[in-house]
Amino acid sequence: MAHQYHPLGFEGSRIAQGYWRLAEWGMSDQELLSFIEQSIAAGITTVDHADIYGDYQCESLFGRALALKPSLRDKLQIITKCGIRLPSKNRPEIASHRYDQSVQHILQSVDNSLQNLKVDHIELLLLHRPSPLMDADHIAEAFEHLHTVGKVRHFGVSNFNPQQFDLLQSRLEMPLLVNQVELSPLELKHFEDGTLEHAQQHAVTPMAWSPFAGGDMFRLEGINPTLFKALTEVSEAHNASLDQIALAWLMRHPSGIAPVIGSGSIERVLSAQQAQSIELSDDQWFAIWVASKGHPVP
Ligand SMILES: NC(=O)c1ccc[n+]([C@@H]2O[C@H](COP(=O)([O-])OP(=O)(O)OC[C@H]3O[C@@H](n4cnc5c(N)ncnc54)[C@H](OP(=O)(O)O)[C@@H]3O)[C@@H](O)[C@H]2O)c1
Repeated sequence: MAHQYHPLGFEGSRIAQGYWRLAEWGMSDQELLSFIEQSIAAGITTVDHADIYGDYQCESLFGRALALKPSLRDKLQIITKCGIRLPSKNRPEIASHRYDQSVQHILQSVDNSLQNLKVDHIELLLLHRPSPLMDADHIAEAFEHLHTVGKVRHFGVSNFNPQQFDLLQSRLEMPLLVNQVELSPLELKHFEDGTLEHAQQHAVTPMAWSPFAGGDMFRLEGINPTLFKALTEVSEAHNASLDQIALAWLMRHPSGIAPVIGSGSIERVLSAQQAQSIELSDDQWFAIWVASKGHPVP
């Protein structure tokens, strides 16, 4: 049985490529261009950025590669984020590490992102994290302006709980399309805190960041041998790899989870894309759930 996928609200791919670690990959502009082209050819057209990634460098690296072949722009859906100030040698004017969701910061951050990515609009802007000082009216003012002037097509949030989401949505005419949160077989909290039910109720797409727990899943034998055994058994049953099973497990959830993968290896990216054809049985899904929880369902 196919499970419902709430599309991102635009023509995005179910699996997105995350570029948080891009500065660590050591790719030349040409190598990155080839990586982007191969990802697109495989069907991964949505890319996930943030202003702060790689000490404010990742968007620029991506933009330089994209500039080598501008025709790729229209094949991509670009997500980026804003709302965090990070002291950096690349931003000497920033004095302290904190959140900033003022109108001025959001508008300036988007202008920086457009300039760095070398594009004239982005498809989806996410507020990176909820702030204790979040003023929904200010954020709404910034979002409405960015939409009106055509710099941003759609909006969403990241790491928001349902109340924070509802508060911001209550001030906006446009629907928030996405809540990007940490979800993986090693990170279950949002399966149980109402985040995914809220997303389903409001037809919001939950995007899963760090779907392999930032790589811990491949060191699982030492971290959680029970979960490693369960994932391995399901992998063998499907003749698939651990990463494919982790993605299939996330995508089996009825909220229509859209994973954001973070590998810099094109072979691993192409392998991840194959996970969409794997259908886990409920027995297999719960075997992984129970192994991760460390006890049977009550
Ligand atoms: N919204 C937020 O607050 C937030 C927070 C964190 C991340 N994100 C987004 O989510 C994206 C993904 O996060 P992530 O990078 O932590 O995701 P991830 O896919 O869970 O982890 C990526 C790491 O796993 C390694 N890996 C992947 N496949 C592997 C395999 N088959 N064997 C061994 N190692 C493997 C990768 O190394 P290789 O490169 O060598 O393959 C990389 O170091 C980020 O790029 C970012 O866009 C968002």
